[in-house]
Amino acid sequence: MQWGDEGKGKVIDLLSERASHIARSQGGNNAGHTIVAKGQEYKFHLIPSGILYPHTQCYIGGGTVIDPASFLQEVEGLAKRSVSFRGRLHLSLYAHVVFPYHKKLDLLSEESKGLFAVGTTGRGIGPCYADKANRWGIRVADLVAPNFAERLKVTLAAKNREITLLYGCEPLAYEPMCEEYQGYAKALLEFIAPVEDLLFEASQREDRILFEGAQGALLDTTFGTYPYVTSSCTLAGGMATGMGIGPSRINRVIGVTKAYTTRVGNGPFPTELTQAQLQHFPGHAEARELGTTTGRKRRMGWFDACLVRHALKLNGADSLAITKLDILDGIDEIFICSGYRKMKHFPVTQEELRLAEPIYESHPGWKASTRSAFVYDDLPSKARAYLRRIEELIGVPISIVSTGPEREKTLWLDDFFGSIRP
Ligand code: GDP
Ligand code: IMO
Ligand code: MG
Repeated sequence: MQWGDEGKGKVIDLLSERASHIARSQGGNNAGHTIVAKGQEYKFHLIPSGILYPHTQCYIGGGTVIDPASFLQEVEGLAKRSVSFRGRLHLSLYAHVVFPYHKKLDLLSEESKGLFAVGTTGRGIGPCYADKANRWGIRVADLVAPNFAERLKVTLAAKNREITLLYGCEPLAYEPMCEEYQGYAKALLEFIAPVEDLLFEASQREDRILFEGAQGALLDTTFGTYPYVTSSCTLAGGMATGMGIGPSRINRVIGVTKAYTTRVGNGPFPTELTQAQLQHFPGHAEARELGTTTGRKRRMGWFDACLVRHALKLNGADSLAITKLDILDGIDEIFICSGYRKMKHFPVTQEELRLAEPIYESHPGWKASTRSAFVYDDLPSKARAYLRRIEELIGVPISIVSTGPEREKTLWLDDFFGSIRP
């Protein structure tokens, strides 16, 4: 519901306990999700965040972009930590493959944009999606097809013309790249599956399917803070197009948001904290606000109800999961932006968003730990008032409150799948 890193990984992991199928539909290894379970920390980029529960079937859909080296490294990480994945991690043949020229072009394009650089993760995501749209893409199906070497030769020749003639850089060598990717093709075979058919059958059986989003609503390529966005549809609607399932199969949408706001990468951020205000927050490492993928410090700001209301509309979220309430535990005075002065609608251009003047309301801090709360009513009354005000401003109920990175640090306000959680 914001600019990414809202704690989706934690929420997906929690809900996966009671889902049979977990499906990731868009983005690539630009995403980074951290889960803390049974005292251990896991970081996922492409692998669905529901993989830790051995009863789940996990899917990577046709709308994603796969960097095979990164994917295989993640799989190796699972093996090292004895997390089962054989026979329950399925990769769509329709997904597009990220090649070294995508990463090279990502970096070159950023350099050439100068002050207008997006601040990408440098993972080649934008150029890979651009190739998909302009029909230069190579899909998983094409990677494992007999004519892959031929296809790569033609594609690389075109990409090298861009790298040499447009950017004046050295061309990338064909032979080693072809050999490397032929190796990946073999290694990926065990994961490739008819994902679209498997999910259709699961939905026909009325199995419980959890579709997980990566990135944030404001990073959506159409409705986000363009051009400071990623290159895929990050909205709930994108689940259907990215997985190849009909929108009528989605019953419910949960929007994940922090109790404040963060952003990595460039672009305007109306409620961004001043250096002086930042001193009152826990440090970036303590607040777990160092990027999972790039290690960059996340920019931090107050909760922005105008932005989350906009995201709510775009996603049709039925309820909110609010994370990281505990990060506000020590702050004397907490601000919420209820709207932008003289602006009726969330601005479309970044020039307008840069001029947005937040209307702030002040809330007294609760100055007590929320981490030990076991049920919602254990929270300090000022923390509950803060959450109630957010609900009021956003107009949807809160269903989950998270007060720490660990699974147990979760307060359930909703009986999601029939039975009330302890
Ligand atoms: P995602 O990309 O949306 O999955 O979020 P990330 O995993 O990139 O970033 C969220 C960070 O906050 C991770 O380090 C999580 O472990 C951590 N986290 C999630 N929920 C909470 C919470 O309620 N409190 C605290 N302190 N940390 C949390
Ligand atoms: P998760 O799933 C936060 C941001 C980048 C950059 C912009 C474009 O962990 O929430 P890209 O490499 O996608 O072309 O970069 O999008 N970005 C994210 N920011 N969380 C993410 O994923 C992000 N994925 C991309 O920082 O501003
Ligand atoms: Mg993240």
